[in-house]
Formats: sequence, C-alpha cells, structure tokens
Amino acid sequence: MINHWKKAGFSVPEIYDRVIPDVDEPYLVLSCIEGMPLREYLSTDTFPIDEKLQTLERLFNEMRERHKLAVRNDDYWLVHYDPSPTNVICSVGQFWYVDFEAKPKYPSVMEAAGTELLTLCKWIVRDLGIEFLDRVMGIVATSYRGQEPLLRLLVKRTSGRPFQFFHRWRDSKRKLSNPRAATKYDIANAIEKLL
Ligand SMILES: Nc1ncnc2c1ncn2[C@@H]1O[C@H](COP(=O)(O)OP(=O)(O)O)[C@@H](O)[C@H]1O
Ligand SMILES: [Mg+2]
Repeated sequence: MINHWKKAGFSVPEIYDRVIPDVDEPYLVLSCIEGMPLREYLSTDTFPIDEKLQTLERLFNEMRERHKLAVRNDDYWLVHYDPSPTNVICSVGQFWYVDFEAKPKYPSVMEAAGTELLTLCKWIVRDLGIEFLDRVMGIVATSYRGQEPLLRLLVKRTSGRPFQFFHRWRDSKRKLSNPRAATKYDIANAIEKLL
C-alpha cells in the first residue's frame, strides 16, 4: 500500500531494505517524517482556529482527489483502513500518511471510502472540539462537491441501517458518558443536513 500510494502521488514514508538485528517480530523500516501528528496540531490551543480550518480544507481536498481516483479505478488500496488524526503527519504544506492496515470486507470502494471519511471526521471533530462540528462538516461538503454519491452512501449506511432505535439509543448513552465526543451519527446527520 505504501508503494501504491506513492505511485499515485500521495506522501508516505520511504521503505528501507534494512536488517535490524535481534528483532524477532516482523517489521518494516521506514524513514522518519519530520512533522506534527494532525491530532496534536488540532488539539493544541496555540494554533488559530481559522488556520486549522484552512489546513482541514487542504486535507479534505486531497482526500477527495484520492477517493475520486479510488472509485474511478475500483481501487481498494487507495483507501486508508485506520483513519485517524494520529496517522496523518503534517509538515509544511504537506500531509504524510502512516499506519496502513489490511482491507476489511466492503461491498464497494465507495463504501470503503465513505467509511474512511466518516471515521476521520469523527476523530477530527473530537480533537478540534464538538463546537466546530458544523464548520468542519461544511468544509467536507464543499470539498466533496461533485462526489455527492459518496456522501449520500455514507449517510445511508449510517442512518439507513436497520434497528435505528437501538443504534440511536446506544449512541445517546455514549454521548452521555462523553458529551464532547462526536459520534458517527453526529457526522452523518450533519452531512445529511448539508446535502
Ligand atoms: N514514518 C514515520 N515518521 C514519523 N512518525 C511516525 C512514522 N510512523 C509512525 N509515526 C508516528 O508514530 C505513531 C504510531 O505509529 P503507527 O504506525 O500509527 O502505529 P500504531 O499501530 O501503534 O498506531 C503514529 O501515530 C505517528 O505519529
Ligand atoms: Mg496509528
């Protein structure tokens, strides 16, 4: 996946063919990216919010291009299966992606990509603050203009699942125990409002 992302023009660490003595587990030797994990950047108060939102706009635009390519080529390997602000490293004007995981089963690339977007948004809103939910999702809606089928599918997969009463009840319990965390229903509802 690292080589595949690199070929497609996305920034990933270099892979080195190195032997590290005395390590029994399987391992991968990568270049060290100089930068700050997106999580740290979003949750640190010293950076102004407008700058953070501009950074997110760049991130979502890059993600839209990757998802467009993935859907067009039916390419499951251009989707990140452990999306999290800890797995994106920011350096000047660039995003680096780490922590690639095996692909779970999805009925389509578009569903896999939609799930990546939903999950990343959930963690981004948690890191930035739940009060920025609508502004972040507004940026997502603008960035994904032209890719509405992906957004609609993401909403359908979340809000159209059977046994909604049960999922929503579990979701409200989750929110009671952690009122500042965004859940996937917060994200899907916000997108639905914007579509
Ligand atoms: N090549 C790299 N360069 C710089 N930092 C990295 C690199 N790979 C991983 N990291 C940092 O280390 C953290 C943990 O590595 P990761 O591959 O995500 O493992 P885990 O499965 O434990 O999440 C990442 O969140 C990232 O901040
Ligand atoms: Mg990780």
